[in-house]
Amino acid sequence: MAEKTTQRTLWGSKIGFLLAAVGSAIGLGNIWRFSYMSYQYGGGAFLVPYFVALVLAGIPLMILEYALGHREQAAAPLAFARIRPGAEWLGWWLPTMALFGIMLYYAVIIAWCVNYLFYSINLSWGNDPGGFFFKHFLQVSDSPFHLGGIRIPIASATFFVWFLCWIICYREVNHGIERACTIFMPLLFVLTLVLVGWTLTLNGAMDAVRNVYLKPDWSKINFITHPEARQVWIAAFGQIFFTLSLGFGIMITYASYLPRRTDIVGNALWTAIINCVYSFIAGFAVFGIVGFMAHARGVPLGEVIKSGPGLAFVVYPAAIRELPFGQSLFGFMFFLVLIMAGLSSGISLVEAFTCAVTDKFNWSRKKVVTAICMLGFLGSLVFTTRAGILILDIVDHYLTNYGLVLGGILECILVGWVLKAREVRRHVNSSGGMRLNFLWDVCVRYLTPAVLIAVWGNAFIRELRQAYGGYSTDQLVLFGVDWILLSLAIGVAFTFYPWDPRKLRRTHVPAEDALLT
Ligand code: TRP
Repeated sequence: MAEKTTQRTLWGSKIGFLLAAVGSAIGLGNIWRFSYMSYQYGGGAFLVPYFVALVLAGIPLMILEYALGHREQAAAPLAFARIRPGAEWLGWWLPTMALFGIMLYYAVIIAWCVNYLFYSINLSWGNDPGGFFFKHFLQVSDSPFHLGGIRIPIASATFFVWFLCWIICYREVNHGIERACTIFMPLLFVLTLVLVGWTLTLNGAMDAVRNVYLKPDWSKINFITHPEARQVWIAAFGQIFFTLSLGFGIMITYASYLPRRTDIVGNALWTAIINCVYSFIAGFAVFGIVGFMAHARGVPLGEVIKSGPGLAFVVYPAAIRELPFGQSLFGFMFFLVLIMAGLSSGISLVEAFTCAVTDKFNWSRKKVVTAICMLGFLGSLVFTTRAGILILDIVDHYLTNYGLVLGGILECILVGWVLKAREVRRHVNSSGGMRLNFLWDVCVRYLTPAVLIAVWGNAFIRELRQAYGGYSTDQLVLFGVDWILLSLAIGVAFTFYPWDPRKLRRTHVPAEDALLT
């Protein structure tokens, strides 16, 4: 007997939810970020820590976020406030970092892709794609402090990206996000397979895949004998959080729109597996193209490129030039894949914050989305300046390696210890679908937080010893640390507004009762 019917919109179908969740997970992280991470950290060697991070942190936390969102039918702030009123600020902090931290630069990277989509029509990058990207397109300044004015082509494409997000998020999730992902995702899979297949037919592609991508170099990941290998592990955990959209309350929000009877564990496993298999397959294209370049230019593999956030925008264009035929088509498809993958993730970042706000205040969704997209565009302008890529590199480093992982640790503590993992497990097991056993409790209470704390601590110690990426300390503090603190301040500010007490009451039937009905 539910005394209060929920007014919440639900996903239109099971597959619709899964596509939206996979849409959030698969994004620039799988192609742009995964490729430069795995390239930088030794190809196959990166896959091992990546897989370990998936099993130890990714999957248990995905189940946790889904279960919490489903149980409370609320986005992070309300869900956390119901666990303990004092935890509400954390529920605000995470989606604030997602929106004002990640989404601001994420939109700009999608905007680069929009520009490159057009550049690929007549291969505007010429025979020096690196110079074209850094000097002509970004016109990178010499320090993150020298903003040097907004780049108009980037800013206008950024406006377009925010406009698309606005159109998609404006409507309720089942009409907007779900429909967009139902179109984007199948198209994305098909295009990706075509690209990978095409790449692997190129000369030299299979060599690189076999000799670098699929061949782990154990010394690079053995952190006992090689202390510098810790960096690979830290990066792998950060990447898993980033790629699965974990730690910032997005999956909590998406699961809050699920109907009562749902296969939580099954959905979590599918989302994680589809996402990681996608990355793994996309890796073939990346290493394949590097191999092809090395072959075409007759240089050793390691000399083809420098890695870093520019990889997708330098190596791909360079390789495309060397293709025997279909250059523009290949380039167009590649950047279209990036745009679709990016947009379907970007909307999830906007949604997490939107839902958090509409849960608490009785404002209309349309107004909230409009305000967020306008503010978002204004905020993104920082990254469209000449210092954009430098600031982006710093913000991304801090938010993924510290923000997301910290979000994961705090979620484990809150759900595992304050709410009690057993309680959540009972909820999951009474919702239908695959059942969880006590091993999950062990993960959420002990194993996952312990591993994450170790990763976090190591990253922190490393940070103190050696400033990231050769930036100066004040640059790192201003853009990295302050960014995190600023979102904390915004988050805490939202907490001060009092709740309507009815909202703090749980609308979901507690698991034990659900069994009887
Ligand atoms: N998962 C997305 C990707 O791989 C990016 C993303 C979406 C994200 N939502 C997020 C990253 C939340 C961190 C937190 O590109």
